[in-house]
Amino acid sequence: MSKDSPIILAVDTTDLSSVDSLIEATRESISIYKFGLEFYLKFGSTTLQSLLDRFGIKLFLDLKLHDIGNTVAGAARSIASLDPFFLTVHASGGAAMVRVAADALPNTKIAAVTILTSLDDKEMKRVGFEGTVTERVIGLSDLALASGARAIVSSAREVTEIKRRFPSAITITPGIRPPGSSQDDQARTMTPKEAIESGSDYLVIGRPISAAKDPGRVAAEILTSIR
Ligand code: C5P
Repeated sequence: MSKDSPIILAVDTTDLSSVDSLIEATRESISIYKFGLEFYLKFGSTTLQSLLDRFGIKLFLDLKLHDIGNTVAGAARSIASLDPFFLTVHASGGAAMVRVAADALPNTKIAAVTILTSLDDKEMKRVGFEGTVTERVIGLSDLALASGARAIVSSAREVTEIKRRFPSAITITPGIRPPGSSQDDQARTMTPKEAIESGSDYLVIGRPISAAKDPGRVAAEILTSIR
């Protein structure tokens, strides 16, 4: 297992046998695997725990929690036994909500999601966010980091500014595409090397690795390109 790899593999499937083979094929180059609502709501903690036990991988639990503090604290306690390396919460849930998640899971790095990249400027205003995307991302990062979050999930467009304002924040960036690979449904992508040079500490990568003929080779090549 690669202990200090900045690659986080997005496991966006509910096919358990392909999850096994994907982890098996890539674990030399990757140590953190991201499981989200699709997987967690279908299989729950028991299946996840057995993957963690069998492969010794670190868990990025992408549940994007957003509720009143009491409920988020309860949710955090419910997944505490999984001991996630990262857990995502929505920064827009407010300072107290981020704080209870951080307090409930002292061993976990809370990763705050700021503005979903699926929201364009118009939709952002409709849901009540004023100002530019960058202004809101910086404002929400400030709130989350001051409330116990250790990491910020952002698009590659904002990562340089986040790192400039908050140098100790861990930056996590999806929307990564190695040179020459398909863009899929991602609109504004960066190569792994560009994202690292822009200030990303971790790169969330899914289909370029998981849909490759040889996921192990692609993961190794990406790791080489950023080392
Ligand atoms: O396959 P791909 O590399 O596009 O996967 C990227 C992963 O990052 C997916 O799990 C996707 O849901 C997640 N993500 C994203 N953009 C965001 C936040 C999360 O692509 N803004």
